[in-house]
Amino acid sequence: MKRDSFGSRFGALVAMAGSAVGLGNLWRFPYLVGENGGAAFIIVYILLSFVICLPIFVSEFVVGRKSQQNAYAAFRDLSGGSAWKWVGMFTVIVPLIVLSYYSVIGGWSVEYLLKSMTFTFTDTDTRTTMGTMFTDFVSSTWMPIIMHTAFLLTTTLIVMVGIKDGIEKFSKVMMPLLFFMVLAIAVYSLTLPGAGRGVDYLFKPDFSKIDGHTFAAALGQAFFSLSLGFGTIMTYASYVDKKENPLFQSTATAVSDLMFALIAGVAIMPAVFAFGLNPQSGPGLVFETLPYVFSQMPAGGVIAIAFFMALLVAALTSSISMLEVAVAYLVEEKGLKRVSASLIVFAGCWVVGVLCSLSFGPLSGVKIAGLSIFDFFDSISSNILMTLGSLMTVLFVGWRLKKTDIYDEFTNGGTLSANARMFGVLWFLIRYVCPLAIIVVFVSGLI
Ligand code: PFF
Repeated sequence: MKRDSFGSRFGALVAMAGSAVGLGNLWRFPYLVGENGGAAFIIVYILLSFVICLPIFVSEFVVGRKSQQNAYAAFRDLSGGSAWKWVGMFTVIVPLIVLSYYSVIGGWSVEYLLKSMTFTFTDTDTRTTMGTMFTDFVSSTWMPIIMHTAFLLTTTLIVMVGIKDGIEKFSKVMMPLLFFMVLAIAVYSLTLPGAGRGVDYLFKPDFSKIDGHTFAAALGQAFFSLSLGFGTIMTYASYVDKKENPLFQSTATAVSDLMFALIAGVAIMPAVFAFGLNPQSGPGLVFETLPYVFSQMPAGGVIAIAFFMALLVAALTSSISMLEVAVAYLVEEKGLKRVSASLIVFAGCWVVGVLCSLSFGPLSGVKIAGLSIFDFFDSISSNILMTLGSLMTVLFVGWRLKKTDIYDEFTNGGTLSANARMFGVLWFLIRYVCPLAIIVVFVSGLI
């Protein structure tokens, strides 16, 4: 049977950008900027995104497109069946861990979209009542589980339909919509009186705020935001046509991801400052601080709907990419039908997600390595597993595969002259700079 693939350049691009742009941009990036000193963090983030993460992105792209198989088989076959296949297995399993807790937050966005559609946030609310509303919701037993189920089921249904008709079609409609919604909110946010302080916060750097932790936090965020270190980009790239330009597709994804993060920052920070609120409210920024901002601003009801709709769409286009990695593996390696494979992965992630969800309430006493179940999964995946996955991928490409094979894939058999000129730099970054930088940044974050 012919393997499913993306039907067009735009389709492949929006699907990749859809994987990259997600809760990482709209939820995680703004609060990390808030916690790590604003513009200084952004500068470090941009630097790491392009010098370290883009070469890793290209590495994943090249491996995926060269093999035209799932991530496990890509590592296995390109390495001639050696132990590297276990790295492939690792890249199939890690996205499932992330998807399990990601889906819980996806569920929160469903809940908050419903809340905003029923105009639950009113001008009699205070910042404290919004905080209580959020805490009451996440610590309850059933509603967060129901919302997690709804979110994961929607993800599963889209993946079940296939690459061209499911993932690509969904992304083609939703990504442009997402872009216009976030852009419109950003423009509106800039018109609020007092917005200027938020803009300064985002774009006026204070370099005294930079230390080893800033680099570690920025690199972890860049990995997460670009979906690196998992088999995601590799799997999507395996559906990309051999005619497409790997450098163009990778750079376009990285640039759109950065644009979305910055526009999300501009949508959120000026509004937060305009209402005299603290940008350093951590993960609660989007679910506690923002609803309060929406409740106070003119036309806030409509803006709230647009924002939570954007959050949900961004989360969905990312979660489908995580699910697809394991579905591709089960279909191609275990011979399962796409529908059964999707349902099996759904069941596994659902159970782990339920445990993560309950760890905010009834299971809050259960600790793994001193962390709640949710925090444990979030912390090991973004701090350790993604870093490890990315490190192993660049080592695989730079030290295990043949330079000439990578050159051929990167330049489409030598036909892309600009890529051919860039190859020397790229190869140097992949072979030396990326592995070293990953190790240094990782260790400096620990001490
Ligand atoms: N890049 C996504 C985001 O920023 O929300 C998260 C993500 C998607 C991480 C896919 C990992 C992944 F494989």
